[in-house]
Amino acid sequence: MAEPVLATQATNTNTYWDFASRKLHSLLGVIPLGFFLAEHLIANATAMKGEAAFNETVNFIQGLPLLLFLEIFFIALPLLFHGIYGVIFAVQSKNNVKLYPTLRNWMFYFQRITGLLTAAFVIYHVYTIRFGTDDLSMYERITTAFSDPIILGIYIVALLSALFHFINGLWNFALNWGLVIGLNSQKYFSYVMIALFFVSAYFGLQMAFAFVH
Ligand code: HEM
Repeated sequence: MAEPVLATQATNTNTYWDFASRKLHSLLGVIPLGFFLAEHLIANATAMKGEAAFNETVNFIQGLPLLLFLEIFFIALPLLFHGIYGVIFAVQSKNNVKLYPTLRNWMFYFQRITGLLTAAFVIYHVYTIRFGTDDLSMYERITTAFSDPIILGIYIVALLSALFHFINGLWNFALNWGLVIGLNSQKYFSYVMIALFFVSAYFGLQMAFAFVH
């Protein structure tokens, strides 16, 4: 992960608005979206303790004061800003992995692919789970959905894709904000991020299979 950044990866920040919107896009990816992703996965992991524990977690979250305010200002609006800008950046970027097949260039390419996959999945997920209109409990809704292997497959791909997007994004974020500067610290930080990806993918898959019967 220590190759120099390629010219096509350079950020186009011609105007103050370009610069500010890039910085805001980057910040929102970590705070609050990264925190939300971690909280969401930890809450879902209570399914590993069974149906009652999971439904209790859901009831706790749904009973939080100011839930709608939190959902709008800490999840929906940041996700809309990051998601809409992200789709624009992903579509506009010049991908040239065939010409320069370096690891960093592949990561740049996958960051965009996983962003687009995450956007499609979030729309599907919110529509079917958060606004589901049946009278099943949340646990039953998910176990029913996961009884279809195609839907389970979609969730597994989306989970791995969102984890990759966030963790590779965290590496980019640390560089963008000057948190890891030297080539050595970038290299060691990339080892930490690779480990984080595999550990969170392992627990994420355990969590997903807790809904499969
Ligand atoms: C909703 C769909 C999403 C799309 C389309 C999207 C797209 C993108 C794109 C294209 C980038 C690269 C920006 C660049 O370097 O020019 C990016 C970066 C990033 N994204 Fe997303 N993203 C989405 C959702 C998320 C979510 C849910 C999270 C957090 C869990 C997240 C976290 C990040 C982080 C941390 C970065 C790196 C920021 C940086 O380079 O400083 N993204 N996203």
